[in-house]
Amino acid sequence: MKKRALLLSLFLGVCALGLAQDEDAYKGLMKATPPAVGGIRKNLEAKALDAVVGDAKKLEHIFGESAEFWTKKGGSDAAGWSKDAQAAAAKVASAAAAGDAEGAAAAFKGVTGSCKGCHEAHREKLADGSYKIK
Ligand code: HEC
Repeated sequence: MKKRALLLSLFLGVCALGLAQDEDAYKGLMKATPPAVGGIRKNLEAKALDAVVGDAKKLEHIFGESAEFWTKKGGSDAAGWSKDAQAAAAKVASAAAAGDAEGAAAAFKGVTGSCKGCHEAHREKLADGSYKIK
């Protein structure tokens, strides 16, 4: 619970600043991603669709910021993946809000399918186990 609250405040902090302009902010966005993905996975399994909506909207926001970041940085591949993930997250939210569990689960694959390609292209693992943008 404590960890969730911390991540949430981190997430809200990033949103309040309204920027994914620098790499620290981008890291903050990425750190907020797994809890939202995990929440959706858990709540889809539990058929708690109402609870899916909030996390899906969070991801929609995260990948919207990500698209902006990469557009500014000139990474058109990463901007494209971000936009795809953003659109997929929006679909998860609308399907879940409409009570469509299958539609939400199908759209969710579009979100989780976005991670790997972008990480392989743009994420570098450092010797201490942390990550940086490349
Ligand atoms: C458009 C590109 C892109 C997409 C899509 C993307 N990521 Fe990332 N991610 C990155 C980059 C670049 C980093 C390295 C930034 C950093 O950590 O400083 C990163 C880092 C991370 C980190 C490490 C954060 C840290 O520094 O501790 C996590 C966790 C993560 N991503 C989760 C995800 C998950 C889960 C998804 C899919 C739902 C996803 N990402 C989709 C680009 C992306």
